Amino acid sequence: MSIRAQDPFVDSFATMREDVNAFLPLLKDETLPLLYGPRLKPCAGAWLSHFTEQMGDKPKDLILEIGSHYGEVILKMAKDEADTAFIGMDITLKRVVKLAQKAQEFSLKNLTSILCNAKFLDQLFAPHELDGVLVFFPDPWAAKKRYHKNRLLKPEFLALLAQKLKPEAYFWFKTDWEPYNAEVLEALKAANWREISPSEGLPSKVYTSRFERLFKAAGQSTFASVWAPPLQTH
Ligand SMILES: C[S@@+](CC[C@H](N)C(=O)[O-])C[C@H]1O[C@@H](n2cnc3c(N)ncnc32)[C@H](O)[C@@H]1O
Repeated sequence: MSIRAQDPFVDSFATMREDVNAFLPLLKDETLPLLYGPRLKPCAGAWLSHFTEQMGDKPKDLILEIGSHYGEVILKMAKDEADTAFIGMDITLKRVVKLAQKAQEFSLKNLTSILCNAKFLDQLFAPHELDGVLVFFPDPWAAKKRYHKNRLLKPEFLALLAQKLKPEAYFWFKTDWEPYNAEVLEALKAANWREISPSEGLPSKVYTSRFERLFKAAGQSTFASVWAPPLQTH
């Protein structure tokens, strides 16, 4: 079940019977590192305070994964970098609950799972709040041309992302879909994003996502690149 809210701080499941979906009651389980709707609001633009309280110390960096799925990448990153804070964002109820349960099971105080649509990025983060953003294998909406408008990584979204990243932060993008890759790379270059070598600022380990593994196992090509936001001119 995915969220369809028009406001990230509203509980769009409020009137839904809890037995409709086994994961619904877990959304309200305040012992899980999981935020959604009204509980997200106090953290918006104040993630440092949220994680300082959760981790018991100020985090070094703040990294967001959009489309974190069941957390194959972000769980490993959070284990490897205990002093950095990680947010896993997804629109699917079951996936965000499972990620939060795993973070709790592994005692990862530096990971919070959020049920939220990335289109609300502006409401969720203050300017320059993020040190890194990962978008691995976003839905390509490839089946029909009229679906392309649903793609997340459009020029308007990338402009917003640039505002939320620190100047030295990274945007790490992977896809299997060559036309989507070309479209995103063209938009990034047109907006003066700077392609950087993965060795320049990315975690040194290899993090392979679930979709990446599946595509590679099927012998399909995948594309990956890392970008720094455009330099501010004023
Ligand atoms: C194709 S899967 C890729 C999952 C994972 N990143 C990987 O590489 O294995 C895309 C994921 O993005 C999530 N998603 C799709 N649209 C989203 C949006 N607008 N905001 C946040 N998550 C989204 C989906 O629910 C799904 O988990």
